Amino acid sequence: MDRDSAEPTVDAYPGPNAQKWVEFHGTNAAPSEYSHEFVWDITREADGPFVTDVDGNVLLDFTCHIGAAPLGYNNEKLTDKLREFDLVEPMKIAGQDMYFGAGPTPEESAVPGSSHLMDKLTDLSRQYDMDTVFLSNSGAEAMENAMKITHDYRAPAKYGVAFEGSFHGRTFGTLSITKSKEVYTRHYPQVSGIETVPFCADRGCEADSCDCGFFAGETSQLRRMLAPEGGRINPDEIAFLTLEPIQGVGGYRFPSDAFMQEVAAVTDEYDIPLVVDEIQAGIGRTGEIWASDHYPIEPDVIASAKALRVGATISRSDIFPSEKNRVGSTFGGGDLLGSMMGTFTLEAIEEHGLLENATRRGEQAKELLRDDAPDYVDDVRGKGLMLAVEFDTAERRNAVVKAALERGLLTLGCGKKTIRLLPPLDSSTREIELGIGLFCEAIDAVGPSAKAA
Ligand SMILES: Cc1ncc(COP(=O)(O)O)c(C=O)c1O
Repeated sequence: MDRDSAEPTVDAYPGPNAQKWVEFHGTNAAPSEYSHEFVWDITREADGPFVTDVDGNVLLDFTCHIGAAPLGYNNEKLTDKLREFDLVEPMKIAGQDMYFGAGPTPEESAVPGSSHLMDKLTDLSRQYDMDTVFLSNSGAEAMENAMKITHDYRAPAKYGVAFEGSFHGRTFGTLSITKSKEVYTRHYPQVSGIETVPFCADRGCEADSCDCGFFAGETSQLRRMLAPEGGRINPDEIAFLTLEPIQGVGGYRFPSDAFMQEVAAVTDEYDIPLVVDEIQAGIGRTGEIWASDHYPIEPDVIASAKALRVGATISRSDIFPSEKNRVGSTFGGGDLLGSMMGTFTLEAIEEHGLLENATRRGEQAKELLRDDAPDYVDDVRGKGLMLAVEFDTAERRNAVVKAALERGLLTLGCGKKTIRLLPPLDSSTREIELGIGLFCEAIDAVGPSAKAA
């Protein structure tokens, strides 16, 4: 398959083979979060955003597996580098009890491992003075460790602050700071001391005209909660305030500068560690390595995963506990293949100018979407290739996801009535035209009646 000429072709969706695979999978797999009956055939052709399923349908994937495959499928920018190495076994090792290297010195090594990945990550976070990394397996673990290290740093703090609409993971700890859908948290016990504050989802919000609930009169809800007189929480007892710079699962909600300035001012004034969850929005998706780089905030801890292929909690050495064994994980810092892929992804972003490409292609996509948007599209928004189209109703949103799939375009819902689009970071003009063209066709087919054609 050649991505320069590939076209989506779909017979029937889901096809007969997909139905068999879905049934087989469901025999033993716990019911989980499957958005589509899309079954990628890992033995068939795929290139960039184009992928073949088990029925031979060719789809254009504008989800990048929720950003976890930031360069799409079989991307030469990664595969060429991976092919240079005879991979070793064990590739996934118990990296907590010993180190590994390749050759006499780290500088001469052609094989990047976890130490090289950490070196790159701190380089990319220098603007926040970050010099220390703890690697783990997943986003939730990256956030768990962010909660742990800030609790140590601020001991004996007993509070944490999270925002309404947030999603930070599905472990018991991270569910306590996840404030989006009730299905994630129902009946599960909570870590005590988590306070919730409104998230500003209005990009144009100003303090004096705010109707998103964050600003209230002369002050913000956050500041009011911490006020020396009349506040209900002592800021000295807060371990962290955690924020997705752009809310993902909650609906691709982009905050206003006024909101971000207030978050920065309050955390700065009271020395509260600001933990940013960059698991979905980070590593180039928005046209910057970190979504935080777009906003007037100074994070103290960054949690990353997905596009990075491993989990990472990044911060300053003074925030990390110095005591041995305070953080750890069997397969955490020792995932050789994951670390290599994360390093190559970061190298590809740098070598191929993919931040700039994401910004340009994102502008192209938004322009095309806005040109074609009918009345029942409430909003088209995005930074880089973290794009969202919000509809007037959930019913119409769901019908458009289905109609897009029938035309060969994979998209994902989020929030209540929004579709998220995450094309690969190296998408071409043609691929964006093709994908947005199919998306607009799907919107037209659904039409005002909200029925998929
Ligand atoms: C913003 C955000 N934080 C945390 C997570 C949890 O990451 P993981 O599923 O790797 O545990 C996700 C996953 O979707 C996410 O989008």
